[in-house]
Amino acid sequence: MKKILLCLVALFLGVSMLEAKPKIAILATGGTIAGSIDSAVATTGYTAGVVGVDVLIKAVPQIQDLAQISGKQIANIDSSNMRDEIWLKLAKEIHTLFKSGIDGIVITHGTDTMEETAYFLNLTLKSDKPVVLVGAMRPSTAISADGPKNLYNAVALAASKEAKGKGVMVAMNDKILSARGVVKTHSLNVDAFSSPDFGDLGYIVDGEVFFYNKTLKEHTKDTPFDVSKLETLPKVDILYTYSNDGSGVAAKALFENGTKALVIAGSGAGSIHEDQKNVLKELMTKGLKVAISSRVVAGRVAVSQADKKLGFISAEDLNPQKARVLLMLALTKTQDPKKIQEYFLKY
Ligand code: SIN
Repeated sequence: MKKILLCLVALFLGVSMLEAKPKIAILATGGTIAGSIDSAVATTGYTAGVVGVDVLIKAVPQIQDLAQISGKQIANIDSSNMRDEIWLKLAKEIHTLFKSGIDGIVITHGTDTMEETAYFLNLTLKSDKPVVLVGAMRPSTAISADGPKNLYNAVALAASKEAKGKGVMVAMNDKILSARGVVKTHSLNVDAFSSPDFGDLGYIVDGEVFFYNKTLKEHTKDTPFDVSKLETLPKVDILYTYSNDGSGVAAKALFENGTKALVIAGSGAGSIHEDQKNVLKELMTKGLKVAISSRVVAGRVAVSQADKKLGFISAEDLNPQKARVLLMLALTKTQDPKKIQEYFLKY
């Protein structure tokens, strides 16, 4: 009788401990973390987005100790092919999962455009619950593939109490990086991500989460961007400036083909070749919006008062690909360059 009672107590404790674990949903979108090639030494030339979410989850059984895991395949692509449609699907799916009682989300994603998806979600999700993007620099078939440890870390982060309210984050190579600050700064190395402007948020060590920094910019619930009813996003493109960049042909062609706004990857603190700039000024009188970012890795751009009066918007310290994300969302709310400038200062 005593034995049965003890067994029942142990069973009850076991069940309640299991219930106490946070519920984490892994949403898979593809990338190198799901990449495969028939050579264990190959770290290039593989196909990204091959392995499914169930295989990714089974490859790291240790995540079951951290959380109650569920998985869903949202896409299975090389992230260089990321589309607005998948961003909108992700945002909607995450809101649905949070409403259904999920405590945190891990998104497996290609590293090439991870910072853009992270920033898009950082600006559009209306929740304090943790959302963590994770990827890998080496395919799942490689010796010393980095995906499994990165996935373990991402689940540990999403399951941690400390992650609440921090905005969308990226977990790569034991680092915690904010969606706004993170930049891919190496094309092949496993230590491919850093935050050149204001530092990483912290580290994940053996499943423990340590924060040392925080972002002061507003995010998630504190932004006005609501994509829940949107099927498309305004078309915004990026143009690079360089020596001898003078024709403006690309800017004209894009505008004539439906581009609503351009981000210019300016030189230095946001300079643009004068011939290109003259074309932009002309297009701006016809309705094109132009935000100036920089092709330099860190620092903010300096747009003169005279240029601001003409309607040029400073992308502040956002790199061109992130400035594009904010500009797209800004255009869902306003066409006024002054208001758009306020968004760039705030988010
Ligand atoms: C991709 O971005 O999908 C391919 C590259 C990577 O994941 O590292």
